[in-house]
Amino acid sequence: MDMQVVPAREGNHNLKDYEALRKDFSWEEVKKNFSWYESGKVNMAYEAVDKHAADPTKKDQAALLYSAPDREEKVTFEQLRLKSNQFANVLKKYEIEKGDRVFLFMPRSPEFYEAFFGILKIGAIAGPLFEAFMEQAVGDRLDDSEARVLITTPELLYRVPQDKLPHLEKIVLVGDHSEQDDKFIDYEEEMKGASEDFDIVWVDLEDGMLLHYTSGSTGKPKGILHVHNAMIQHYATAEWVLDLKEDDVYWCTADPGWVTGTSYGIFAPWLHGVTNVIRGGRFTPDDWYQTLQDYKVTVWYTAPTALRMLVSHGEDTVKKYDLSSVRHILSVGEPLNPEVITWGLKAFDLRIHDTWWMTETGAQLIVNIPSLEIRPGSMGKPIPGVEASIVDNEGNEIPPNQMGNLAIKEGWPSMMREVWKNKSKFESYFVNGWYVSGDSAYRDEDGYFWFQGRLDDVINTSGERVGPFEVESKLIEHPAVSEAGVIGKPHPERGEIIKAFITLNAGYEDSEELLEDIRQFVKTGLSAHAAPREIEVKDSIPKTRSGKIMRRLLKSWELGLPTGDTSTLED
Ligand code: PRX
Repeated sequence: MDMQVVPAREGNHNLKDYEALRKDFSWEEVKKNFSWYESGKVNMAYEAVDKHAADPTKKDQAALLYSAPDREEKVTFEQLRLKSNQFANVLKKYEIEKGDRVFLFMPRSPEFYEAFFGILKIGAIAGPLFEAFMEQAVGDRLDDSEARVLITTPELLYRVPQDKLPHLEKIVLVGDHSEQDDKFIDYEEEMKGASEDFDIVWVDLEDGMLLHYTSGSTGKPKGILHVHNAMIQHYATAEWVLDLKEDDVYWCTADPGWVTGTSYGIFAPWLHGVTNVIRGGRFTPDDWYQTLQDYKVTVWYTAPTALRMLVSHGEDTVKKYDLSSVRHILSVGEPLNPEVITWGLKAFDLRIHDTWWMTETGAQLIVNIPSLEIRPGSMGKPIPGVEASIVDNEGNEIPPNQMGNLAIKEGWPSMMREVWKNKSKFESYFVNGWYVSGDSAYRDEDGYFWFQGRLDDVINTSGERVGPFEVESKLIEHPAVSEAGVIGKPHPERGEIIKAFITLNAGYEDSEELLEDIRQFVKTGLSAHAAPREIEVKDSIPKTRSGKIMRRLLKSWELGLPTGDTSTLED
């Protein structure tokens, strides 16, 4: 590493002093920014949309600048208000009520955001699903949440296992289709007939708002429930960390199927009435730069995988574009390599600010705010109002420079409130008053946190979280596969890739074609991002005497590391 620290810079940042922010801090002060502080009437949709539409100076401002290869559209705050009112009326017509789960499974589009706020306006819980999910992944989530309505497109409909979802009453189709059954609702038709007036259903700060499924080491993905109260932290971090100001043009590259795409792709910018650039799909380095240039993006929130891809395309590509509008860059989801920070300084003449948080935490917790010096490789320091530490397995704090569990003192505003229908899972996160993240890290003497790895078997591939159990379960559904163990294998661009070890059933031979067939089976049955890039056939898979797959051992073998304690290994 050629640089120890990258000092804070003057310029047009807020440059709020970190220590001062922390010292005089109270969440109570942040709450005063919301209309409910006086009125007692709460709904995220009001604070993020209707409030701005009611402001004559803001109503015609672009809330959303949408760009896709075949479509470009601007949606103002007023238009978003009216459309989401209409969709809330559609839901009302079908008797959807407060607390019901309404899921979205579709690519990013204006309709996604209209429908999303319509769901919140009626007091229902929104469940956005990543558009790359296949049948198993979609089915598991709709089944567990007992969703009553799904909004999707005709193209994605084949991945919805309708006959296995007894709770799913209606499917709203966005786009041309020929479905005749009563179960289907045509988005465009219904919207035409729906009133633009809707009385928002006021809810409690602690009422459910958003359900995001995420993966752990074991079991099916779990539903992480967030409540309207989370807005307090979305609002505050948008100011301290994203440094958003009213005239910014903001671009968060995450899909709303993941928590970054909702907390920071929807709530944070719109709580501040900031114009939000939305681009769908995966794109080439030129597409990325073109978007920054054409929309004159000022604040850009992205992920290390994307940044590493840009780095690998070299500086010549950067130089073709005018990127002078960009004034602030942030990253989340995986460790941010110091090399990427060095590149950011050269390519953009800007620092790249790492932020750490999780689906369960609902919002940023450990960050590099503009006024702090950056120590490349470190995630930064906890935001005001949040206490972070390194604890042992009993929840006792341990001294600086020693590795342990990265933990957060319970009770920050955007913390998950429930693991859907799984109380014991929820409780298992908390030890001695600390939320234990599952990440290992250490803290240096100056209070900077340094990520070291996951303590469980969760895989992080291109910033997307994958549970090995889900992949293993899918693998063994393939007729050739007898047993499977899945690990994350370090990869320079993707962070980790998924590697599967399998044993074959009698009658099957290890061959290129078979392994490709197995890979396609996971890809088309579960999800492209969860399909193993590498598959290796073994004579047996190491298991404990109680039958648990020893992924740790597989990983040690793969990486040529010492195998550690194998005393529980089956004979
Ligand atoms: O291991 C950490 C990693 O991503 C995990 C959370 O994944 P997910 O719930 O999908 O949320 C991702 C975006 C909020 C964490 O447990 N992670 C997240 N941010 C960082 C990170 N690892 C290193 N550095 C980060 N900045």
